Amino acid sequence: MALMPDRAAALARDAADPLAAAREQFVAADSDPIYMDGNSLGRLPRATMTHLRRVVEDEWGTQLIRGWGTGWYEAPQRIGDRLGTLLGAAAGQVVMCDSTSVNLFKVLLAALALRPQRRTIVSDVLNFPSDLYLAQGCAALLGGRHHLRLVPSHDSLTISAADLADAIDDDTAVVMLTHVAFKSGAIHDMAAITAAAHAAGALVIWDLSHSAGVLPIELDACRVDFAVGCSYKYLNGGPGAPGYVYVNAAWHEQALSPIWGWFGQHQPFGFALDYTPAAGIARFLAGTPPILALAAIEPAVEQLAEVGIAAIRAKSLALTGYAIELFDALLAPVGYTLGSPRDPARLGGHVSVRHPAGYQINRALIERLAVIPDFREPDNIRLGMSPLTTRFVDVWETADRLRRAVVDGHYQAFAAQRRAVT
Ligand SMILES: Cc1ncc(COP(=O)(O)O)c(C=O)c1O
Repeated sequence: MALMPDRAAALARDAADPLAAAREQFVAADSDPIYMDGNSLGRLPRATMTHLRRVVEDEWGTQLIRGWGTGWYEAPQRIGDRLGTLLGAAAGQVVMCDSTSVNLFKVLLAALALRPQRRTIVSDVLNFPSDLYLAQGCAALLGGRHHLRLVPSHDSLTISAADLADAIDDDTAVVMLTHVAFKSGAIHDMAAITAAAHAAGALVIWDLSHSAGVLPIELDACRVDFAVGCSYKYLNGGPGAPGYVYVNAAWHEQALSPIWGWFGQHQPFGFALDYTPAAGIARFLAGTPPILALAAIEPAVEQLAEVGIAAIRAKSLALTGYAIELFDALLAPVGYTLGSPRDPARLGGHVSVRHPAGYQINRALIERLAVIPDFREPDNIRLGMSPLTTRFVDVWETADRLRRAVVDGHYQAFAAQRRAVT
């Protein structure tokens, strides 16, 4: 009962939230468990259901093959351009296709080919492992002459900008980083690192999976060379939604995808026997675009673009700031540590809290306490807050239940056995 005024304060924040009504545009019942995993899989927008039904029934069902002439063919670029407004990218530089992993393969090989004399790929130990596997795979494919240099972390949350700058030298071909770290939520300084890489003659690739749709990004203004990302997190595109590729217009003539498919050919329906790359970003397409999956992402991107990234970031900062306030008041006293940077300027859309029994606590939250966060080894419970759907009262309830999971011993019922997907 002593904590009730805090819950009332959370409700007051919701009442004053200018984006509160946006939640009604999503499938989200008050009786559902509290969803704190929008940084892994965003909620379903209501507009997506209507749009998908229309595309399936009217376009696929009725128009059949004629759909390619009435909007399907342009969908990867059309949606890419709209997404570009959230990424600081002028039209013609973003295309929706493939998965983030496949897109990273494409742009990494394209970038390495643009720096043929150089042998080092610089990344960091907090990067998403799939990105590092891709770099290892590309190095092996190129005969093992390339070397992946991983900048260490001193605090397991952040990477020092000075260490990163020191790691870039005249052998660096590519600096390949994830803008917002998947565990801690720490933000890299895109402008400074891109400038440092360019000063050393290297190119940059940014993975925007954890930043697109939740914070402002300025790809063009930072003169980023390449970027990739997924659209199933804050972009709400649905499970396994297509990823995207950004290639700065400055590279459109020279950069080549290593996958020479017919949709990247300059005349796919010319059926020439030799490959000539399409002009512009289209050359990073490979095969037939997944029209139904693209139909799912289009209304979701539209919705975010209409709200605008400044308002989204303002709400995100309020949510993460509140989560850290509640961490200090409720969670630090019962043995949690903060797994994210405190400085709002260096924090993305999620907050991690750590506890030696993190795995069991996460299971207790999901199975007993009606909260869905996620867990990342070894001890991180990630609290993903989606600015359009997460309420301040959700954050309060999550903090209170995290506290209760420990003080009431709920977590003890769950063995420390790990499951691959949590
Ligand atoms: C930062 C980052 N990069 C890459 C990936 C891999 O994306 P995909 O499985 O869609 O290829 C993920 C997946 O969560 C991610 O978080």
